[in-house]
Amino acid sequence: MSNRYVIILAAGKGTRMKSRLYKVLHPVAGRAMVDHVLTQIEQIKPDMVETIIGNGADKVRDLLGDRTKYALQSEQLGTGHAVLQAEQDLGNKEGITLVVTGDTPLFTAKTFENLLDFHEKEDAAATILTAHAENPFGYGRIVRNDNGNVEKIVEQKDASRSEREIQEINTGVLVFDNKLLFENLHKVKNENAQGEYYLPDVISLLKEQGEKVSAYQMADLSESLGVNDRVALSQAEKIMRRRINEQHMRDGVTIVDPDNTYIDVDVEIGNDTVIEPNVKIFGKTSIGSECIIGAGSRISDSEIQDNVEIISSTIESAVMHKGSNIGPNSHLRPKAEIGRDVHIGNFCEIKNAKIGDRTKVGHLTYVGDATLGTDINVGCGVVFVNYDGVKKWHSNIGDHSFIGSNSNIIAPVEMSDHSFIAAGSTVTDDIPKHAMAIARSRQTNKEDFWDRLPLSNSEEWK
Ligand code: UD1
Ligand code: CA
Repeated sequence: MSNRYVIILAAGKGTRMKSRLYKVLHPVAGRAMVDHVLTQIEQIKPDMVETIIGNGADKVRDLLGDRTKYALQSEQLGTGHAVLQAEQDLGNKEGITLVVTGDTPLFTAKTFENLLDFHEKEDAAATILTAHAENPFGYGRIVRNDNGNVEKIVEQKDASRSEREIQEINTGVLVFDNKLLFENLHKVKNENAQGEYYLPDVISLLKEQGEKVSAYQMADLSESLGVNDRVALSQAEKIMRRRINEQHMRDGVTIVDPDNTYIDVDVEIGNDTVIEPNVKIFGKTSIGSECIIGAGSRISDSEIQDNVEIISSTIESAVMHKGSNIGPNSHLRPKAEIGRDVHIGNFCEIKNAKIGDRTKVGHLTYVGDATLGTDINVGCGVVFVNYDGVKKWHSNIGDHSFIGSNSNIIAPVEMSDHSFIAAGSTVTDDIPKHAMAIARSRQTNKEDFWDRLPLSNSEEWK
């Protein structure tokens, strides 16, 4: 096997995206397109990977780090010119070079592997990965001669009327003999509709030199989707999500309605978990086994352990320990940590707070900046008043304590184990062990209040 090198083209701006974000950085199922490409490339373990950067160079470099080498293309003069920027690192190496575009996020390592093997078996100077497209608009077309051999690739904007009819397209993935590639890149001209140096022009140059050019037509067109605009972005997203969902289902996750379930690529889910429709799970989230993720829930960057039930709730950067449950319609915000077998009911918001095992926070409650122990009962409508307009303050609530409904706990408050807050209290001071805080005015009943009303003697009020 010869040495294998890879060049990823990622210098373009992506004008057709009409975006402030550079094209290859647009995410598909939670991962930037160029990162998808590199992740698959890494699996084939090439001898060297070089990414061509230009627009958004710093951002691409920040994202990919030292997983690849880089070459800067300071002016975007076309894909051929882009590849030429790798000459310093690669130009005189013996081996074969795979060129991939950074805007084709759906290719799999398996396809790259098959292409490279095919190229070596064919002993070709270049091999084009092609696909059959029902609607080939926008792609370079593969022009074959009467014997069926590849002649050249012609771009959409340069194609004649009859060439536009061709449905075999250049997927943007090509393999070359490395030395022949760089030799010929110097000969590519920019006399075409876009005034660019096209990488595919190396193909016709090789043909003129009598070199062998092969084409490897892939079975699954959907892998080759090139994302140039938001329409294609949504198509890529859909294909990627279907792929992700199918993998989870094969791994034992029940997804009730896969067409309406949105799971990012880095999410992990244990078996026998059930995901109801219209659920979104984003970022680096892990979900355990035997969980129920109810309809309409949205979970990002969180750790959900086994046997957790989430009903129509939003969870962000939070942890839910085994056996806990939440919802409907509650919200865990960053740094909420929900202990084992905890019950968080409906219309609760929890932020930067730890809730100890078996504690119950059932209804209409805000817990912000607090540490709650175990086995606590928090009544309905409790507010942890954590903000004085300038600074956030923290409260601690001891184990086995009881917080009556409609209480305000004005932080900082230290509530000891086995203590109580009477319903309707506004608590400002610490509460010692076994005490009950009651902080509300006493009830007075105004006797015979009815008789004082002006209408009380009228016929109709009697
Ligand atoms: C390219 C191919 C086309 C193929 C299609 C597959 C050329 C001339 N055309 O067209 O045959 O069917 O991909 O998706 O190669 N880039 C640079 N520097 C540049 C220009 C582009 O790094 O100067 C990068 C872009 O960031 C992008 C990739 O190369 O990731 C492809 O460029 P793009 O402009 O999208 O090419 P297409 O028109 O899609
Ligand atoms: Ca493209």
